[in-house]
Amino acid sequence: MATLQSANITVMVKAARKAAGKLKRDYGEVEQLQVSTKGPADFVTVADIRTEEMLRDSLAHARPEYGFLMEESGTIAGNDPNRRWIIDPIDGTTNFIHGIPYFAISIALEENNQITAGVIYEPINDQMFWAEKGNGAWLNDRRMRVSGRSQMEQSIFATGIPFLNRGDHKQFLQQIESVMAVSAGIRRFGSAALDLAYVAAGRFDGFWETGLQPWDIAAGIIMVREAGGMVSEINGRDGMLKTGSVLAANPNLYKELGQTILNTVK
Ligand code: IPD
Ligand code: CA
Ligand code: CA
Repeated sequence: MATLQSANITVMVKAARKAAGKLKRDYGEVEQLQVSTKGPADFVTVADIRTEEMLRDSLAHARPEYGFLMEESGTIAGNDPNRRWIIDPIDGTTNFIHGIPYFAISIALEENNQITAGVIYEPINDQMFWAEKGNGAWLNDRRMRVSGRSQMEQSIFATGIPFLNRGDHKQFLQQIESVMAVSAGIRRFGSAALDLAYVAAGRFDGFWETGLQPWDIAAGIIMVREAGGMVSEINGRDGMLKTGSVLAANPNLYKELGQTILNTVK
């Protein structure tokens, strides 16, 4: 069953597809790319910056009044103070640089402080995940639903493992120990945006991570919710974009996954 995309979703999908064309060619030449470093293990590539510029151009052309919050170039205020795009040009940059085809463009629309639409595009497999408030979550033209699993022992969960100087390593090791003891497995694929899209698609039964940025998760949050899933901070609060803490799961497992993770926090 296909649905009619709203004008905003059409704009977002078009912008993502256009930017992805060049990004795919860059990925093919990843070894030749000129790479600079933002900090330890946090690379920014020419492709990152160019992709963000292309997205910004397309979106600004279609919606000249809207503002932006972007990973590479920060905040740009729009004439409309209530609407802005939240963009991660490549979520999964480390994968991209290593030639691992698990990365995505993520675009969310925030209106009056609420995320109302999200697009997460995985260029290598041509998977266009999109969702809009009240209009469901979709993978290309197929409706997405979170998984129906209710047993932890049959479920797999995605997460993000802290690295180098980021995050509380000890606390994470406790969390992973608890979840691995009761689940069918844990995955660390390296793109929080795609992890959330995969929860929406029912591939992962849940996901948790801390230390994330708004552009990593804004589109994914509405995607999981519109697919019938639940998303909050790990402690159950609703400030994910501010705190960077995320717990997402199907409604059968959300509470148990949260408790399993929290029980480890001494
Ligand atoms: C990263 C990815 C990764 C998550 C990191 C993020 P980037 O974003 O989402 O899965 O674990 O915390 O920084 O740097 O590839 O845009
Ligand atoms: Ca990111
Ligand atoms: Ca990024």
